[in-house]
Amino acid sequence: MTPSVPQINPDRLHQRIADLAAVGAIDGGGCARLALTDADRAGRDLVCGSMRELGLAVSVDAIGNVVGVRAGRSDGPPVMTGSHIDTVRTGGRYDGNYGVLAGLEVVAALNDAGLTTEHPLAVAFFTNEEGARFAPDMMGSLVYTGALPLAEALAVQGIDGATVGDELARIGYAGPAPVPAAAPRAFVELHVEQGPVLDREGIDIGVVESVQGISWTEIDIRGTSNHAGTTPMSMRRDAGWAAGEIIAFVRELATELGGDQVATVGRIEFFPNLVNVVPNRAVLTVDLRNTDEALLQRAEARLAAHLAALRDAEKVEISTRKLARFAPVPFAPEMTDRIEGHARALGLTTRRMPSGAGHDAQMLAAVCPTAMIFVPSVDGISHNVREYTEPKHIEAGAQVLLAVLSELAGA
Ligand code: GLV
Ligand code: MN
Ligand code: MN
Ligand code: MN
Repeated sequence: MTPSVPQINPDRLHQRIADLAAVGAIDGGGCARLALTDADRAGRDLVCGSMRELGLAVSVDAIGNVVGVRAGRSDGPPVMTGSHIDTVRTGGRYDGNYGVLAGLEVVAALNDAGLTTEHPLAVAFFTNEEGARFAPDMMGSLVYTGALPLAEALAVQGIDGATVGDELARIGYAGPAPVPAAAPRAFVELHVEQGPVLDREGIDIGVVESVQGISWTEIDIRGTSNHAGTTPMSMRRDAGWAAGEIIAFVRELATELGGDQVATVGRIEFFPNLVNVVPNRAVLTVDLRNTDEALLQRAEARLAAHLAALRDAEKVEISTRKLARFAPVPFAPEMTDRIEGHARALGLTTRRMPSGAGHDAQMLAAVCPTAMIFVPSVDGISHNVREYTEPKHIEAGAQVLLAVLSELAGA
């Protein structure tokens, strides 16, 4: 039998997305599968089952990354695609999941067509891309590429006090495959944009040329708890007020610096967190991002200076801890050109763009030619249960992925 031309099966892809979205489903159509929770385990089990049904050889490494390999005519490193299936607590159904499940659809399409590629083809999902429970984000791909020592990653304590190592063992995903692993031949990650650009401009495919730099800092403020009714304002060492000052400051900082600078306080805790007690402690996180490393450093320096001024003004103690720090990452031009060429050949409109979100691809870029394909997110909404991408765009992205991987793997 002569092999036929491989084709994406849209219904099968949409069904896989719906099936994974049902795991850890929350009101509004989203998912809560924080890394290494029971819901994450259930999602992993589902995707591993699909990988095996498709005939992939599945391996799990010591940080819980899962790689399913479809054999090629020759041995050697695979062409790899993939993403992550952990979510933030209020996640959508596409972030990460789409890239992994579209990778499986590419395998299914090659299987349907009876095609064997020259090089092996791998579909991977990496542990704890989100970093919402355990920092840093992109943890699995960092360890996979040797940028973070395994022992350091396993020792990380999450926001609930559990460690990565204990939780990996508990859910049964502390695997035997070694990390760091051998570099793939190339890596392509398909993802929803998670921002408004493609949707607003009515463009089908984003050709991602870079990922912006990310700086995450946890700030721990210590003051003195005291009675809210009796303590004169001039005598307070109010950790809560200092935290509020920081929230306002980073917003003003981003506005003032302009350009691509964004700044977010996404997590905050007060102690003892009672209506009539001046807080003696506040812990909050600051997320700073910029496409330009020098400008990101400028924002970090401005934040540090502000913390020093706050220390003096309120007589509080302030300590900081870096949760994550990644410089901007450029992708390989030969890969972006390839993606653009295939998208256009399929009659799709394209736009070159940076990624505002962090992705596993930015870690893989250090070890092999890498790039990303974006599809539009309606209204640019993500990390929200309302995250949505139209079926026609889900299908178009998968078609481009199939074309790019087929060429790279030598179909
Ligand atoms: C992870 O998804 C991030 O970009 O924060
Ligand atoms: Mn993602
Ligand atoms: Mn995300
Ligand atoms: Mn991400």
